[in-house]
Amino acid sequence: MNEQTAIAVRNFSLRLSPTPRGARLARLLAVEQLRMWGLPSDPAAHIVAELAANAVTHGRVTGRDFRLTVYVVGRTLRIEVTDTRGDRSPAPQHPAPDGESGRGLLIVMALADRWGVAEGPAPRKTVWAEVTMPRAPAHRLSYAGGADGLPQETTR
Ligand SMILES: Nc1ncnc2c1ncn2[C@@H]1O[C@H](COP(=O)(O)OP(=O)(O)OP(=O)(O)O)[C@@H](O)[C@H]1O
Ligand SMILES: [Mg+2]
Repeated sequence: MNEQTAIAVRNFSLRLSPTPRGARLARLLAVEQLRMWGLPSDPAAHIVAELAANAVTHGRVTGRDFRLTVYVVGRTLRIEVTDTRGDRSPAPQHPAPDGESGRGLLIVMALADRWGVAEGPAPRKTVWAEVTMPRAPAHRLSYAGGADGLPQETTR
């Protein structure tokens, strides 16, 4: 498999019911997918959980599924949660210390490197968040040469 194929394969998308169970499944399936890719599920799992919870509460339209998409480009892990309430947008809150809600987006903002909302196609919107992953060990060819005089692959 060449590198381009490997990148294309790191793309996961599924439709889920707009229910608490759908939100739980979003988190569980994202964790499983990241595990299969050999990537850490922290903090992505937490971000997926908050965005999915919002999709099934504030972004819910009865009978319309929401979509979770996770993909990797370079060192960026991008999480997208698409719901069908394009007429309502996420609005970060300033919860009182004893307030019971209004923390989800603050958690996403704290954990993600970037986040935002993309409108459309109607009636949808997508709330997205990106996490930069730690640098993988770089493979390089060493020209110090092996005993046979050929370049050796090394990691650093
Ligand atoms: N997908 C969404 N669609 C529409 N509105 C949203 C969406 N996500 C968030 N919002 C709006 O943004 C507000 C803040 O979201 P946030 O997740 O921070 O808090 P919360 O969901 O109200 O509470 P908590 O996440 O702590 O249970 C919500 O109350 C809601 O009005
Ligand atoms: Mg929330």
